[in-house]
Amino acid sequence: MTTPGFPADFTWGASTSSYQIEGATAEDGRGESIWDRFAHTPGRVRGGDTGDIACDHYHRYRDDVAIMAELGLDGYRFSIAWPRILPAGTGAVNEAGLDFYERLVDALLERGIEPHATLYHWDLPQALEDAGGWPLRATAEAFAGYADIVARRLGDRLATLATLNEPWCSAYLGYESGEHAPGRTEPAAALAASHHLLVAHGLGVAAIRAAAPRTRVGIVLNFQPHAPLSDHPLDLEAAVLGHDRFNRWYLEPLTGGDYPADTARRLGWRRDEVLPGDMATIAAPLDFMGVNYYTRSFERSPLLPPLAPPADRELTAMGWEVYPEGLTGVLEFVASRTGDLPLYVDENGASYDLDPADPTRDPDRVEYLRRHLVAARTAIDHGVPLRGYFVWSLLDNFEWAQGYARRFGIVHVDFATQERRIRDSGRFMAAMARGGEPAEVAVTAEVAR
Ligand code: FCB
Repeated sequence: MTTPGFPADFTWGASTSSYQIEGATAEDGRGESIWDRFAHTPGRVRGGDTGDIACDHYHRYRDDVAIMAELGLDGYRFSIAWPRILPAGTGAVNEAGLDFYERLVDALLERGIEPHATLYHWDLPQALEDAGGWPLRATAEAFAGYADIVARRLGDRLATLATLNEPWCSAYLGYESGEHAPGRTEPAAALAASHHLLVAHGLGVAAIRAAAPRTRVGIVLNFQPHAPLSDHPLDLEAAVLGHDRFNRWYLEPLTGGDYPADTARRLGWRRDEVLPGDMATIAAPLDFMGVNYYTRSFERSPLLPPLAPPADRELTAMGWEVYPEGLTGVLEFVASRTGDLPLYVDENGASYDLDPADPTRDPDRVEYLRRHLVAARTAIDHGVPLRGYFVWSLLDNFEWAQGYARRFGIVHVDFATQERRIRDSGRFMAAMARGGEPAEVAVTAEVAR
C-alpha cells in the first residue's frame, strides 16, 4: 500500500541479527563465535549477560514471522550466523545451519514477507579469531567461501543480500576500543581489520555474483554526523577526523574512491595491507546500500581542555542524542557518493526504559520513529532514492556490551517467559506499512512537516 510521501513500492520492515536473538548457541552443530567467547568472559558484558538463550528465536522463528505478518510488514532484515554454516569458519559445512535459514526464509515467503539477509553481523567463528581474526587477510578469503555457500543455497529466494553490517564497529569496537568482541585494543590491528573487512566484502560480492547472479547484493554501513564542540580550529579538525574515520573510511573505497589520505596519515597507517587490485575488488558495483542511523556525536580535540556537550540534548536510554535531522543529512551525504543506487535505512530506532505499568507503552519510541520518518521523507523529497526503512529492532534483544538492559524492540520480550507483546511502536510501524499514520497512537510532541 502507498504511504503518503513514500514511494509506492517502499519496503516497511524490521531488523534483527543472529547473535542478538537466536540463542541455541550450542545446537545442531553451531560452532563457537567471538561473541560467545566474549560474553562468557567476566567483565565484558553488563550484568554478565550472554546470547546463550537470547530471544530463543532459533526455536520460535515461526512465532516471530507470524508477528511480522500480523504487523503487515513488507520485509524482514536478519543476519546469518557464520558459525552455524561453517563451525570452524572454513572447511566442513554444517547442513543443519543452512536448513535453519532455509526454513526461516521459506516461512517469510509463505507470509509474503521479503527476506533481507546479512552475512556478517559480528559473530565471527572463534576459530578464525584464534588464527588472527580480521587483521589477517585469510579471514577475508574465508568470508568469500562462506558467502558462496550461502548464496548457492538461499540466493534465489532473498530480496537482498548484504555482505557486512557496520564494518566500522567490527574494526574499531572489536580491535581498537575493545568494547566489542574480540575485545582487542590494538590500533594497528584495527586499521588492518578495516581493510580486510572491505576486501572480504569485495571478494564476497564476486562470490555471490558467481553463485547466484540474480541476487541483489549490497553492504550496510553506519553513519553519524560529527559536530565540532566549538569553533576552535582544533575542534574542527577533531570533527573532520571523526567524519573521515566513521563516515568516509568505508564509503569512499566502496564507491571508487580511496581511504581519506590525510586521516590515514594522521593515524600512522602505512597501507601495508593494501595489495594491488584490492581497491578495485572493494569497489565492485552494488545493487543497493544500507544506511544505519541512530544519533550524532560532538567532537572535542584532545589538545583542548575537556568540555561537556550541550546540556539540553534529548537523550535515549543509550545516552544517544535524538537528532532526526541527522538522518536527512546522512542519506544525502551517502547519495552524494552513490547517485542512483537504491538505499535502504536498514537500522534506525531507540532504546528507552520500560514503563513499569505496561511494557507495551512506548510513546518516546513512537515519537523517535515518527520524527525520523519525517526526516527520511525529507531526504526522499530532496531526491534521495530511498527504497525502504527497517526499524531496529523487531524484538528486545541482546544489546551487545549492554546485555539485556537496553531494549530497542517494537515488540516487548519478557525474557523470563519468552512471551512477546506488540508495543505501540509496533502498531505505529504497522500503520505506516498499511498506508498512513495511526489515529490510535496518540502522539503529542510537535512534528515538523
Ligand atoms: C547497531 C547494531 C545493532 C544494534 C544497534 C542498536 O550498531 O548494528 O546490532 O545493536 O546498533
